[in-house]
Amino acid sequence: MHDLFDICPCGDDAEETSSSIPLIGDPAPEFTAQTTNGVMHFPADYAGRWVVLFSHPADFTPVCTSEFMAFQALQQELAEINTALVGLSVGSISSHLAWIEAIRHIKYRDWENMEITFPVIDDSGMKIAKKYGMIHPNASDTHAVRAVFIIDPAGIIRAILYYPASTGRNFDEIKRMVVALQTSDAFKVSTPADWRPGEDVLVSAPATSNDMRRTMQHMASPDRTRDIKAWFLIFKALPADEITEKLQKKQSGKKKPKNIV
Ligand code: BEZ
Repeated sequence: MHDLFDICPCGDDAEETSSSIPLIGDPAPEFTAQTTNGVMHFPADYAGRWVVLFSHPADFTPVCTSEFMAFQALQQELAEINTALVGLSVGSISSHLAWIEAIRHIKYRDWENMEITFPVIDDSGMKIAKKYGMIHPNASDTHAVRAVFIIDPAGIIRAILYYPASTGRNFDEIKRMVVALQTSDAFKVSTPADWRPGEDVLVSAPATSNDMRRTMQHMASPDRTRDIKAWFLIFKALPADEITEKLQKKQSGKKKPKNIV
């Protein structure tokens, strides 16, 4: 991240962008933008960290305000798992800053005097929103939908969520998704429906006839370490503290994650 007053080639003279939707597995489209915390070069500024990049439809609107407070509350938890938060809306820096100041005076849940510290991108020209498929013209051609992109430390898009303007996002789910992806990467496992750290994870189905034979033998053995529901549905235990320990090791030299569960 760079100083707010750095020269930013992101105004009206910047190159026009047509709408596109990057997909899971694609590199996160690059951009340079002015944000409430200074000029951002994305995703380069976040190399080595996970990022939750989200869009919201408009400043000074009710659902977005409740979400901004929830995002701020989530930010510390995300930081503990090596994940940065970046917001975007089709609005100017002055509008974002005025709204952030207004939010400071709102008391909602147990949040008050809340300072929004994550960067909020000025995307008045909708160039970034269009690059990320955040403008859904049949919903609105002037405002972004509620999009969430989870991007890994190599700058690859790993998950995408879209919500309509009328529905606030589920913040437990956003964090659950980041932890699930980090766990899958670290342990080469998948996570089943509604998985939470500490619950059993899924291992790959046998790929060869030898693997299949071993699986069948394992199914018959009384001391099996795997819970084999079918040859293609095999669970194994993965304690939450093992996940925390491994993710901490992966991040040696960086701020240590804690309280992942
Ligand atoms: C809201 O955040 O409440 C909102 C934003 C844009 C359109 C409709 C609702």
